Amino acid sequence: MNFELKSLDLAGAASDPCDALILLVVDGFKPDKTALSGCVGDAIAAGDFETKPGKLLQLYRNPAAAAPRVVLAGAGDGSARQVRQAVGTAVGAIKSGPARRVGICFVGTRGKVSGAAVRAAVLAAADASYVYTSTKPSAESRKITKVLVGVPDAAAVQAEFRHGVAAVAGVELTKEWANRPANHATPAMLADVARALGKRPGLQCEVMGPGEVARLGMGAFMAVAQGSHEPLRFIVLKYQGAAKSQAPVVLVGKGISFDTGGISIKPASEMDEMKFDMCGAASVLGVFRALAELKPALNVVGLIASCENMPDGRAVKPGDVVTSMSGQTIEVLNTDAEGRLVLCDALAYAERFKPRAVIDIATLTGACVVALGSVRSGLFSADEPLARALLAAGERALDPCWRMPLDDEYAEGLKTNFADVANVAGRAGGAITAAKFLQRFSSRFAWAHLDIAGTAWKSGAAKGATARPVGLLLAYLLDLAAKEALTPSKTGKSASKKIVRTR
Ligand code: BES
Ligand code: MN
Ligand code: ZN
Repeated sequence: MNFELKSLDLAGAASDPCDALILLVVDGFKPDKTALSGCVGDAIAAGDFETKPGKLLQLYRNPAAAAPRVVLAGAGDGSARQVRQAVGTAVGAIKSGPARRVGICFVGTRGKVSGAAVRAAVLAAADASYVYTSTKPSAESRKITKVLVGVPDAAAVQAEFRHGVAAVAGVELTKEWANRPANHATPAMLADVARALGKRPGLQCEVMGPGEVARLGMGAFMAVAQGSHEPLRFIVLKYQGAAKSQAPVVLVGKGISFDTGGISIKPASEMDEMKFDMCGAASVLGVFRALAELKPALNVVGLIASCENMPDGRAVKPGDVVTSMSGQTIEVLNTDAEGRLVLCDALAYAERFKPRAVIDIATLTGACVVALGSVRSGLFSADEPLARALLAAGERALDPCWRMPLDDEYAEGLKTNFADVANVAGRAGGAITAAKFLQRFSSRFAWAHLDIAGTAWKSGAAKGATARPVGLLLAYLLDLAAKEALTPSKTGKSASKKIVRTR
């Protein structure tokens, strides 16, 4: 989707020749003397339109507007959250129609539109108009191709607009690959996407196959992959935006391209949704797509462990003991708890980057869906500054998470007589025991785990990927880069007294 930002007042918007014009009308709107403004004022006065978010009034062939269709959308207090809702409903109302060029204009804001609201509008427009076409090319004709965003002062919100547009590029890449069925998104195909990203300036990519992964000693990852005919891939993406000496943030994505459960097979109903079990990996790809666009001053490494989890004559069996890259032995009591097995080896690999922080992103547990539903992702971290930074980033990006506990008592159930650790504990606190398992492989760096099982995709009629937590991760990384710019040297002697926590 193509975005343009312009300084426009209501009169300017009225004369713009788009197919549909969305007017975001905030609380306290006062009409001026122009015709379209009078129309909005009359509609409010008559009680036919309210400025509450979610309220719409549609006008056709209004002589005051060049666009054949005008949608008045209540934008409430003009906050990012309410603007997101307004744009979502308005674009939702027109997306089945013929509009290809859409104008979205902030009106009645008395010259004040926050950058956050503009970014939210851009992301919401892309989100509401997204159509999946990879295996349904006939849907292509439904795409909105161009969005013009009109604000009182374009220069004042240019940076946030750019951030929004870059985030959209990332989000669309994430959705595309997350939505593809498993036969159109194999580990090898995901590696090809990463390789293509690696050709962009500032980015690099390295892909490893079964041989290299065996040489690294990733016995846990290999155990999951061994039941499938699709060969595994271990993907290393690097974005370098700062001096080589600067410690990177490492993002680790769970990339199970399909999760049948393996020998501990899942029930048939809704098993198709397990094509989404690579949403963590897809979100890492999306973040790198946005980084390529924004080029912030920091270093980021992306690790993706990708394979299928299948039942087979060669598949790993309940009770099998495997040796992870860290040296710890693992009893695979349930082959459906495969995410933690691939992640534990990726986390061990992350150590070599001497990272400032490692964040893994995974559709890890059904228990997290039970605990938090689809509103907030689960956040697990024993590192206070890192946890606080991620919580705050989630709020800013309207992509929130919620901190979950990591008390050692939760690890009790992972004890076994046959290995250093078992891959499952009992049913109780399943999202937490999974995190406790991962924590054993993350003791050498600041670590956080995001369980996105409830937030990464929607079920039912709106079935599809959400691209969460791309927004959260980008907000976190950009904030880190901004703080870095304010704190010149973290290694120099002068900075050593003043402790600046920028994880
Ligand atoms: N990919 C699933 C988690 C999942 C389940 C995400 C449902 C979204 C919806 C994961 O690999 C899994 O199967 N986890 C098991 C763990 C259990 C065996 C301890 C689960 O949650 O049931
Ligand atoms: Mn599973
Ligand atoms: Zn899984």
